[in-house]
Amino acid sequence: MTELAGKRILLGLTGGIAAYKAGELARLFVRSGADVQVVMTRAACGFVTPATMQALSGKPVYTDMWDGRIPNNMGHIELSRDRDLIVVAPASADFMAKLANGLADDLLSALCLARRSPLAVAPAMNVEMWNHPATQRNAAQLRADGVAILGPASGDQACGETGMGRMLEAAEIYAEAVRALSPKVLEGKRVLVTAGPTYEPIDTVRGITNQSSGKMGYAVAQAAAEAGAQVTLVSGRTALPTPAAVERVDVVTAREMHDAVMARVKRTDVFIAVAAVADYHVVNARGQKIKRSAGNPKIELAPNPDILGAVAAGKSAPFCVGFAAETENLKAYAQDKRHQKGIPLLAANLAQEAFGRDDNALTLFDDAGEHVLARAPKIVLARQLVAHIARMLPKAR
Ligand code: PMT
Repeated sequence: MTELAGKRILLGLTGGIAAYKAGELARLFVRSGADVQVVMTRAACGFVTPATMQALSGKPVYTDMWDGRIPNNMGHIELSRDRDLIVVAPASADFMAKLANGLADDLLSALCLARRSPLAVAPAMNVEMWNHPATQRNAAQLRADGVAILGPASGDQACGETGMGRMLEAAEIYAEAVRALSPKVLEGKRVLVTAGPTYEPIDTVRGITNQSSGKMGYAVAQAAAEAGAQVTLVSGRTALPTPAAVERVDVVTAREMHDAVMARVKRTDVFIAVAAVADYHVVNARGQKIKRSAGNPKIELAPNPDILGAVAAGKSAPFCVGFAAETENLKAYAQDKRHQKGIPLLAANLAQEAFGRDDNALTLFDDAGEHVLARAPKIVLARQLVAHIARMLPKAR
């Protein structure tokens, strides 16, 4: 994983039990190739030690405005200037109040005030502290000042109470940082993605479906959101969490997917059909569980609507991207499919190497020919696909 390669992140910790999660966050940043500078408040040092954070970030940790290691004694300027992003996790109620009011009485608050880079804070506090009108005022002020507020989440708290105020998990904060640092090649675009399998009932407990896990489509939705698009994900049944900043619409059958897509297509600039859609539905689906004693029941099938075909054929159609999973003759079948559907771009993969897996390999077909995307995690391929779409957009629209 090198998605943050070359990025320079300042990770700030303030006082809160959630500081233990900052160690994992530092590790994720470092593993991803980022240069991580940790700065801790005095209160943070009561929860985890600078030595721990130094070991995990691989760099000395700063805690004091007057640290003699900073050549010109201007830590707040020196440490903030070369950073691509500042993330404060955990951010206590006290620290948010200081930020909202422009106070700068310690190294972390001073460098946040002196910064030129984007700032994101992950609040962590007791539910009553989070709900207090003063904290809500401060959060609103920070948002108005352009600070990204990540979370908080709701759930059990270290103090034994339950409610809003839990810090997001390290992986969620990491994903937000990746999003914040991604090139915004789809800024202002509205992207509609289909993902996962469809399910066509035979009776109330049985149905026809396929082995799509949704991983490829969810990765595409995540990559488009990272690239600054407003993303809606129309999803068949999956066990996956919704990617950050993505609106998700759950459907079950192909006809539901068709309706959900058609209702949104007018407000769409780019349509990416990753779903494995059932070609047929059962006309004589039963309203009760079919009994074994019923003998040999006949299942009568009728074709489902071709969602991608319908979108591509529409008046002022969005830029359409199709997927094709084939078990053989990948190139010939994929090119046929692109022409049949009348779409500018199609991503082809081998079914046996794509369904359900975390990685994949894609070949993109467009008017310029074919472009091979070598085997990689699906999120890496999704980012490459999004970059390819962004390059094609000005020509196509
Ligand atoms: O979900 P994963 O486990 O990560 O697996 C990913 C994947 C293999 C499902 C994905 O990468 C993929 O290849 N999706 C397309 C599957 C396929 O072969 O679809 P198709 O050949 O039936 O359809 C071609 C295109 O038309 C697809 O873009 C499909 O979404 C679309 N289609 C198909 C039928 C239909 N009724 N409506 C459609 O929109």
